[in-house]
Formats: sequence, structure tokens, C-alpha cells
Amino acid sequence: MSDRQRPLRSAQWFGTTDKNGFMYRSWMKNQGIPDHEFQGKPIIGICNTWSELTPCNAHFRKLAEHVKKGVLEAGGYPVEFPVFSNGESNLRPTAMFTRNLASMDVEEAIRGNPIDAVVLLVGCDKTTPALLMGAASCDIPTIVVSGGPMLNGKHKGKDIGSGTAVWQLSEQVKAGEISLHDFMAAEAGMSRSAGTCNTMGTASTMACMAEALGTSLPHNAAIPAVDSRRYVLAHLSGNRIVEMVNEDLRLSKILTKEAFDNAIRTNAAIGGSTNAVIHLKAIAGRIGVDLTLDDWSRVGRGTPTVVDLQPSGRFLMEEFYYAGGLPAVLKRLGEADRLPFKNALTVNGKTLWENVQDAPLYNEEVIRPLDQPLTADGGICVVRGNLAPNGAVLKPSAATAELMQHRGRAVVFEDFDDYKARINDPDLDVEASDILVMKHCGPRGYHGMAEVGNMGLPPKILAQGITDMVRISDARMSGTAYGTVVLHVAPEAAAGGPLAAVRNGDWIELDCESGRLHLDISDEELASRLAESDPSAAATLIASQGGYRQLYIERVLQADEGCDFDFLVGCRGADVPRHSH
Ligand code: FES
Repeated sequence: MSDRQRPLRSAQWFGTTDKNGFMYRSWMKNQGIPDHEFQGKPIIGICNTWSELTPCNAHFRKLAEHVKKGVLEAGGYPVEFPVFSNGESNLRPTAMFTRNLASMDVEEAIRGNPIDAVVLLVGCDKTTPALLMGAASCDIPTIVVSGGPMLNGKHKGKDIGSGTAVWQLSEQVKAGEISLHDFMAAEAGMSRSAGTCNTMGTASTMACMAEALGTSLPHNAAIPAVDSRRYVLAHLSGNRIVEMVNEDLRLSKILTKEAFDNAIRTNAAIGGSTNAVIHLKAIAGRIGVDLTLDDWSRVGRGTPTVVDLQPSGRFLMEEFYYAGGLPAVLKRLGEADRLPFKNALTVNGKTLWENVQDAPLYNEEVIRPLDQPLTADGGICVVRGNLAPNGAVLKPSAATAELMQHRGRAVVFEDFDDYKARINDPDLDVEASDILVMKHCGPRGYHGMAEVGNMGLPPKILAQGITDMVRISDARMSGTAYGTVVLHVAPEAAAGGPLAAVRNGDWIELDCESGRLHLDISDEELASRLAESDPSAAATLIASQGGYRQLYIERVLQADEGCDFDFLVGCRGADVPRHSH
């Protein structure tokens, strides 16, 4: 095409009449592709995380068909390819353990193949960051199409939310408030359609992050998976990606520092998952943007949470879409001069503000006015101190305000197994004002950083009608969970962090206002305890098993650095040595 800004990358494979071109085309032609498809059309990769073991993405073959229609209509040629699908609900030990593996798969699949641009089909929590990380390291034109959330869960005539209902119902069983039969009956009703978790969990948060970053078309985050408009969006994304090739609109033009600032502010407004802190850092690292925990304080703090969705609030993603979705939130922020960079470029070639400035808002209960927020200051709270020298995070909209400044006695669990073994013990020495501390659940300690930071409370505390305590760990927390939970303590215990030195009965001070997390012992005592301990024993054992586990333990970065592998950080571009047959 005459208006194309750079030659097609795929022409390196299909654009010659020599022996190599013959071979590249010939094998592709075994799929019934006519010759004219190789005559200068953009080849669009559709990177598909479909898997029946990733139920949240199990409808993606249909989604891909609609993307293909759009690509063909716009004059491109679509080629669908699979990548590792790391589904949250089934994968052990955690889907986070394989996020980097999936990103490597994506990166090399994009770079090694004759594609000019890529459509990323993402949904379940880790699939969104994994695919964006891999694509960012290649930096070709890229557009995100999310699978969309499930319809509202239904149980006993009420709406129930993915994940959040599980935490609530399981605590109610433990407290003797509902029967086991009632608990089991909620299973089918909670997940009754295709799609991702319908709460503002990590999947919905990351879909919102992708939209706020400008990597998807407007409304991508919230349209329900089974709504026909989801398939229209997939079709339009197929149209658009072909134009992006002609405009050479690569990810590096979208994923700027300004775009990340917009995403951080958006995360506060939606009451998004703490997992976004880790994932945005990892994505930024791949495209060469310097993002730190301090950016979360600088940009996010002071922002009201206005989206009233579970787990922080009441509603679910269906209502969010019907209320106006993310464009309505961004418009609300922008009108109040609280959208940091209105002029950030998005994949449709327009600025973020151009996309949302006329967005309607239909329900102010779901998307509240800024002066009637769910939480006045909903930005992720970053705390530091001698217990977390490199930082830890807390989600204010999911916490109990009175507990965000708290001094309590530590009740320590050495790891998750220790926690499981003792938490239900009626003789456990614990009071409501204590702080539950768990170690060895960070990226190295639990190879993948388990989502167990929202430790369920001891039954004897629940029986008192108490539903929240301060909890501190180097673990993550599901985006669907809630509580006054300090997460991502860095360095983690297994990397020799001070968390390893906490003992039962120590006093700990948490002050979210000043950003302080302090273990009340002397520096000398802390140093002496750390010298005595061998915190990396568990990680060494995991690494000794070899395989991907060894690679993971040896090369994973800490939570404040995004948990990427050290050797994957950076943009390596899409150039690849030419292979001569
Ligand atoms: Fe897949 Fe929640 S488990 S989106």
C-alpha cells in the first residue's frame, strides 16, 4: 500500500521469489491459502490463550473468528496461533508462576513468525500481563481484545460475585452461619456463563488497565463475555489492527510513562486489584518505561474510588458496563482534571480523552460522583519501614479504615502450611487486635507468590463477630479478596528480608497515612535474628528439583520489581536473523 509507513515485516518471509520465499509460502498453502493472500497484505497474528483448562478463556475460539472477520474485511490476512494459557482457577502452584513462561512463549512466537501485527486475546488474570509483556518486548503493532466478564452470579435469588462470594461463604460456614449444603449450592450459580470473574478482581482490573493504557478499543474492559457487543468489539479490533500496521502504530507509542500514570490513577478510581502493581511494573519494564512503587503513591494516592464493585463495594461487572463502563469513569476523572494525561495516544489513533469525552454515564450508584466516593482515598497504599525496606502494598478500598493505623502483637506463621495447620486450633494464642504474619509466600518462597495474603481469620475470632484483622505477608492477594491486608513485602522472607525475623509476640506498627510499616525491635536484634535464620531453605529445595522451577527461583525479581525474570526485562524488538533454507 502506498501510504504504509514501513515495509511489511512478513515480506521478509513471503515477499521473495527465491527458494526461501517458495518454501515459506508452500507450506502455508497446505491450509488452502490462495497465492494472492501473500501479495503484500498485512499478516495479522491472533495470539490465542484459548484452553478448556482456562475456563475464563474457553470461548476464545469464537472470539478469534470475529477478529478474523474484521481483519479480512480490512484487507489483512489473519493467522491464529496458540500460546501457553495460564488459567487462575486450576493451575498449581499458582498461575503467577507461569506468567513469565507464557510471556516468553508470546515473545518468541511473535518474533519468530511472519506477522506484521498481533491481536492479543486475553482474559483470565495472568493472561493479560503475560501477553502484553511478551508483545512489549517485540514492539510491533498490538491490540488487546479481552474475553469479557461472566454474567452476574445468582444464588438464592441474590447476585453473587466470582471469588468474593467464595471468601464470604466459606467464612460463614466456618462461623456456623450457613450449612455446608448451602455453600456447595452456590458453585454452579456463581459461574453461569462464559467469561472472566465478574467482580473487580484481577482479570477485570487488568482489562481496565489495558483500556486505560490505551492498548484496547474503548469499552473493551467491561462488555460481558456473552453480550453480542463483545463480538462486535472483536470484529472492530480486527479492522483496526490492519490500519495500525499501515500507520506503524507500535506498542512503544502507546505504552508511555504517561499511559502508566493514567492506568495508576484509573486503578484507584475503580478500586482495582493489588496484582496490578506487579503486572504494570513488569509490562513497563518490557517496553523500557521506568515505573516504581513511588509512582503509585505519587499518582494514585488521594484519588477517590468511585466504582462501587465487589470486592470493595456492591455491584458486578455487568452493572459496570450498563452504567457506562470505563469510558464513563475516565470522563468523570477528566472533567475534574484528575486524568493525568488526556493526550495519551490509544490504539484507535485518538487520544484517551477524545475516546471518552462524550461517554454517557447511566447509573451513579455504580459509578459514583467523585465527591460521594466509596473510599475517599482509594489509591494503592505503599508502606515501607524496617519490616519492608523495599515496600509493601495495601488496598484501601478493601480495608477497614480504623485498622489502617494499628499497633498489634504478631501472631506468626512460618509458611502457608504452618498457617493451615494451626489457624483453626482453638488453643491458638490470638486476639482480635493482633496482627497475623505469614512468611515464605513471596515469589521465591512459594515459587509464584501465592494469593494467600488475605489469610482467613481464626474461627475463634470469627465467632466473636469480627471480620477483619491486620494481616501482613510477602504473598499476593486475589483481586476478588478484601481486608486490611499488607501484601508484597519486599524483600520477601525467602530472599532474606526482615519479614523472616518476626517472632510471636513482637509488636508491629502499621500507619497507612504516613506509609510506615515498623517491627518494634532494635536494629541490632533484627540483624542478629536474620544472621541466625536460613530463610532461603525452602527456595533452595524448590530450585533443586530442576526444570522451570529452578529457572524461576534463580531469576525471578522481587515484587517491587514486578516479579519478571531479570533477563527478560527490556524491549528486544522484532528483528530476527533470517533463516536460509
Ligand atoms: Fe479466571 Fe478469575 S479465575 S478470571
